[in-house]
Amino acid sequence: MTTNKLLESETPRFAPSILDSDLANLAAQVDILAAAGIDTLHVDVMDGRFVPNISIGIPVVASLRAATDLLLDVHLMIADPENYVTEFVEAGADVVTVHAEATPHVHRALDRIKDAGALAGLALNPGTPLAHATELLPVLDLVLVMSINPGFGGQSFKPTALDRLRAMRAAIDSSGRQIALEVDGGVNRDTLEHVVDTGVDLLVSGSAIFRHPEGPATGVARLVEQLDALRSSRR
Ligand code: DX5
Ligand code: ZN
Repeated sequence: MTTNKLLESETPRFAPSILDSDLANLAAQVDILAAAGIDTLHVDVMDGRFVPNISIGIPVVASLRAATDLLLDVHLMIADPENYVTEFVEAGADVVTVHAEATPHVHRALDRIKDAGALAGLALNPGTPLAHATELLPVLDLVLVMSINPGFGGQSFKPTALDRLRAMRAAIDSSGRQIALEVDGGVNRDTLEHVVDTGVDLLVSGSAIFRHPEGPATGVARLVEQLDALRSSRR
């Protein structure tokens, strides 16, 4: 069986999104997360075309790679991602995720990610049929089910994501392949339990950590505590 490094450490676990972090002090923010036991960082890339917002790009991924050994989970919310995926891998991404809606050449984009040596992920907006991912399971390492419309942190979790996550979990399990299931958007202390119940592997969380009134160290610590409690109640 192929190994998937996203599934080597215990799941479910958090992949904090740095979108809402203090980007002028990114290395310090990463240190705070690492100290809380985080091993996967979620990096949100937006181009102002696929989504109505602009965030960070290839140079920031390269700087992060130089600053940390944490896994870099790069979420491309950009049009025509097949033109850029190789550069993101060369900059140091461990996994690159493209949106099913962002290009007619999804399969080509996934091939290029793998050819460049990274894990390949596919993201689905809330209105996109799951079949877009199930068709591609043989070539995927990660499926990202969006629980918001992408573009901004701090939005409310869409409960329709819960059934979609359960269905995707079942499809991944019956594929027999090692594919990580990730959720992104509105994961916080109020939604965490419902999300964990779906069998998801990676929990993206941004504003619940970086907009916590007591700061990100407390924000991440509270979520990790809550997740640990949920895990032990299920053992
Ligand atoms: C939004 C991004 C998310 C988001 C997560 O388009 O993909 O990663 O910023 O932030 P929260 O946890 O605040 O929804
Ligand atoms: Zn994201």
